[in-house]
Amino acid sequence: MPNSSDIDLAVLQNSLSPKNRKWHFLPEIDSTNAEITRLLPSHPPEEELIVIADYQTGGKGRSGRVWHSAPGTGIYLSMLIRPNLSPEQLPIVTLIAGLATAIAVNEFISKPAQLKWPNDLLLNNKKIAGVLCEYHATEVPAVVIGIGINVNQIQFPDDIKNIATSLKLESGLETDRTTLIKQLVTQLDFQYTELKNNKVQTIIDNWTRHSDLFGKSISINKGDQSIIGKAIRLDPLGRLVILNESGKEIALDSGEVRIQRK
Ligand code: BTN
Repeated sequence: MPNSSDIDLAVLQNSLSPKNRKWHFLPEIDSTNAEITRLLPSHPPEEELIVIADYQTGGKGRSGRVWHSAPGTGIYLSMLIRPNLSPEQLPIVTLIAGLATAIAVNEFISKPAQLKWPNDLLLNNKKIAGVLCEYHATEVPAVVIGIGINVNQIQFPDDIKNIATSLKLESGLETDRTTLIKQLVTQLDFQYTELKNNKVQTIIDNWTRHSDLFGKSISINKGDQSIIGKAIRLDPLGRLVILNESGKEIALDSGEVRIQRK
């Protein structure tokens, strides 16, 4: 099918592709993460894979939520990697994906977007991008890194219009999605190489520099539990360490963070 989108796969393939990487561009799909999951059983383990869609009819967000994926406006990209990591190191993959997204997005905007642990990118307290990593315990374990970026949207559905934003809404400018995808994949490759070279502390330090969470009072919802405290750092496993109201440090591996505004 001819590609009438501003996403130019040939440019991406020519400027970025290592030889063992396959690229798929789909005008429409339910979810790029779901598409990689379907391809996984027949995909050669030595090959990398990137799937990009112009439109997702069933974009998946964290915690079973929907990722609003209007046609022709956002970036909906999934990348398959086969990291040689122990399961407890996997949260670091979410961190590298968020960090790569923050660095790429911030090339296109004057006021930097900030990471909110574990995987949100916020601009003016509204969400501009999100990351959903899914682990598959296949013979060679696989991780699907899914990234959604709000790029040229000028409106959002009522249920998210107060919590979502886009590069266009913030800057007034249209962004070329091919250029942004190129930056994003360049950053993903770089951060993944850092991880393979065991530069975990460098990744954590960099992630911390791209976040304004630390030192703030937050609440974290985990199941039916809500923990209140001050965000103080990430530990070497990528867990969020908070100082709770009794002065005790607690490391959390998941949860929904809310910044307490006074
Ligand atoms: C979140 O913040 O809740 C995560 C959003 C992740 C959305 C992306 S869009 C590309 C990929 N495919 C999906 O279905 N979801 C991720």
